[in-house]
Amino acid sequence: MTSRWRTLLFFLLLSRTELILAQIKYSTPEEVKVGAVIGNVAKDLGLDVSTLTTRRFRIVSGADGALFEVNPNNGVLFVHRRIDREQLCDRNAACLTDLKIVAEDPLEVHYVTVEIKDANDHAPSFADKEKVVEIVELTSPGARFQLPGARDPDAGINSVQRYKLSQNEHFNLEIRDRDEDKIPFLVLQKQLDREQKTHHSLMLTAIDGGAPPRSANLSITVRVLDINDNRPVFSKEVYSVTLRENTPINTIIIKVQTTDLDEGPNGEVEYAFGGDVTTDALKLFSIDRLKGDIRVIGLVDYEVANVYKLDVQASDKGIPPMTTDCRVIIKIEDVNDNEPEIDITSLSGKVSEDAKPGTVVALISVSDRDSGLNGKVVCSLSKNVPFELKPSFKENIYSLVTKETLDREAVSHYDVLLKATDCGEPPLSKLKTLSIQVSDVNDNTPEFLHSPLQLYLLENNAPGGSIFFVSASDKDLNENAVVSYSLLRDEGGQKDMTSFLNINNENGQITALKSFDFERIKTFQFQVVATDSGAPSLSTNVLLLEDKT
Ligand SMILES: *[C@@H]1O[C@H](CO)[C@@H](O)[C@H](O)[C@H]1NC(C)=O
Repeated sequence: MTSRWRTLLFFLLLSRTELILAQIKYSTPEEVKVGAVIGNVAKDLGLDVSTLTTRRFRIVSGADGALFEVNPNNGVLFVHRRIDREQLCDRNAACLTDLKIVAEDPLEVHYVTVEIKDANDHAPSFADKEKVVEIVELTSPGARFQLPGARDPDAGINSVQRYKLSQNEHFNLEIRDRDEDKIPFLVLQKQLDREQKTHHSLMLTAIDGGAPPRSANLSITVRVLDINDNRPVFSKEVYSVTLRENTPINTIIIKVQTTDLDEGPNGEVEYAFGGDVTTDALKLFSIDRLKGDIRVIGLVDYEVANVYKLDVQASDKGIPPMTTDCRVIIKIEDVNDNEPEIDITSLSGKVSEDAKPGTVVALISVSDRDSGLNGKVVCSLSKNVPFELKPSFKENIYSLVTKETLDREAVSHYDVLLKATDCGEPPLSKLKTLSIQVSDVNDNTPEFLHSPLQLYLLENNAPGGSIFFVSASDKDLNENAVVSYSLLRDEGGQKDMTSFLNINNENGQITALKSFDFERIKTFQFQVVATDSGAPSLSTNVLLLEDKT
């Protein structure tokens, strides 16, 4: 495929040395087969072909002499070695090779120029196989990002003519000419969202203008950089959990969790209680800043509060950060940790011994700080006391009433043991003693030890002297038992001797006011009345028989 095109220029110059100079220009594409004919130099120079051998027709020098040879038999210039235009020449300049051909007798020197024409023997190529372009998400459409161009050592039309970008929804390709180079740019058409797609893979193809065209591919990876455009999101809006009171410290109650679609610090979440969490709750619960674990750090007491509402805030570490809130409801479950309480209302702690059965002595109210069945209390009383509990109009309030009549002279004081037991598991109870005094009623009359009494009196007793003591006792208390004595007088009676007697009303000492004479009266009798100081008073009589001896 030697080109038939050729130019033939003759410059016949006569010099003083009679040197004949001529210049012929041929043209051949590069990369033709070894042996391919460039042209017939002898013929084109008008030389007699039959003389060439004797005139030693040959190439004597040239930039690359060995690329070509002339056949001395017929004067044909042919390719001797593979011709690579890109190796011989600068990429853009016309590639010309000068040959000096001589014939002797007479000496002739001819200059032959062979133009090596470019063939599309190179494909475009990119320096790297892959290019990573980093673009911040939400960048406005229209932004441009330069891509590496492809190189093609071929010249002219055989070099890179155009670029093509693989089909995609986010980018267009724009080519800008700088000098002789075409620079490809990615132009953003549609905003990127890292949370939708973190990487976009594109293919840039550089195509030269050869026939057929040759091309090269460059893989482009667009890495979408995150901006903090997503809030953390809790897995629930409201978390609910039940916690037994007295749960050991350090127990993890619940874990709150979020997802944040952003990347790196923009997606790293920290937890904290919201500002409206009470100081009481802060003393009981803590939250792990990084893990979101909520722990018990204090004594949880159902009786103090049975529910806590904590607001938790999650914040990512973006600049500025984005936050979200959730609520954690902690319901405290009651445990039977309180013993019942007994409250006694009693006016005096006393009950009169003549109180009728059913008389209210005290009001007993029992209570329990625990809730539910736990909080229910059963109250009981020690046996063998003359009292009983009667339920009242209201639950957990009892009246303590007398069960039978009392007798202070038999038992003056009771210690009543009250026991309140709750219905928890295990049950807890509380004991309380109620001290009850039985108050006295004047229900006992004074009593003389013996009745009647007989006494002997010597005659001629000294008037005004003591003759006897009477004494009565009373089982009652205090004034009900304070006895006073008096003589029962029978005024005007014939046998009434009491006018001659006197009695100390306090101590029962009887004195005779006159001296008695046995010869005139041998015996007489009188009655002493013992009266207590109760209201009303009770009294008794004793008959005294006097016998003077
Ligand atoms: C470039 O990539 C396309 C599509 O993957 C492929 O068809 C073509 O052969 C590749 N060209 C080269 C030169 O690798």
